[in-house]
Amino acid sequence: MAVQISPSILSADFARLAEDVARISDAADWVHVDVMDNHFVPNLTLGLPVVEALLKHSALPLDCHLMIEDPDRWAPAYAEAGAGSVTIHAEAAKAPVRTLRTIRAAGARSGLALNPATAVEPYEDLLGEIDMLLLMTVEPGFGGQKFLDVVLPKVRRARQLIRNSDSSVWLQVDGGVSDETIERCAEAGADVFVAGNAVYGKDDPAESVRALRAAAER
Ligand code: DX5
Ligand code: ZN
Repeated sequence: MAVQISPSILSADFARLAEDVARISDAADWVHVDVMDNHFVPNLTLGLPVVEALLKHSALPLDCHLMIEDPDRWAPAYAEAGAGSVTIHAEAAKAPVRTLRTIRAAGARSGLALNPATAVEPYEDLLGEIDMLLLMTVEPGFGGQKFLDVVLPKVRRARQLIRNSDSSVWLQVDGGVSDETIERCAEAGADVFVAGNAVYGKDDPAESVRALRAAAER
């Protein structure tokens, strides 16, 4: 289970996205892109045109996290545009199986995200449809929030379900991941770590990515 770090550009400078992505491209594995529509979450960020523009400037694959009301309609376009991974929320998708299959058919990795209060067990049978399970460790919508320890037992249960399913689904945690919390996430079974504030809130984002990786591997 190799550790992967996916810095969130939500905490980067939106007027200098290409430069901020370049700052972490030697150290990170992915670039996490938070798409918010002010309906599924109470915040508005960026959408497909910005992702398309960023794809031309990023040496790393884009890990697109869609916090939007109608992912069935929009997710395929992110995969077709060339995103490496497209994650939809279980709470928002009306036809998750179809949408996850469409994402894969377009050549991207398919991801399913669960909010802190959404149980993982109902989605056990979907593990074969996904390449990554994202467990939110804050309520989605904003960077810089406090890590919710209450989600850790679910991370453990999800790792167990993945093990039992004999699949190679990646287990991502997103929200409040820092030097201080990443070890607990790794110990619980997460292997892909999103970090916004803990990377772009620091003077040296690349060094912060390396420190997070070292902490997760400990
Ligand atoms: C929150 C987003 C996260 C956010 C994480 O809704 O999905 O990806 O950028 O930011 P930090 O690491 O600052 O909590
Ligand atoms: Zn995210």
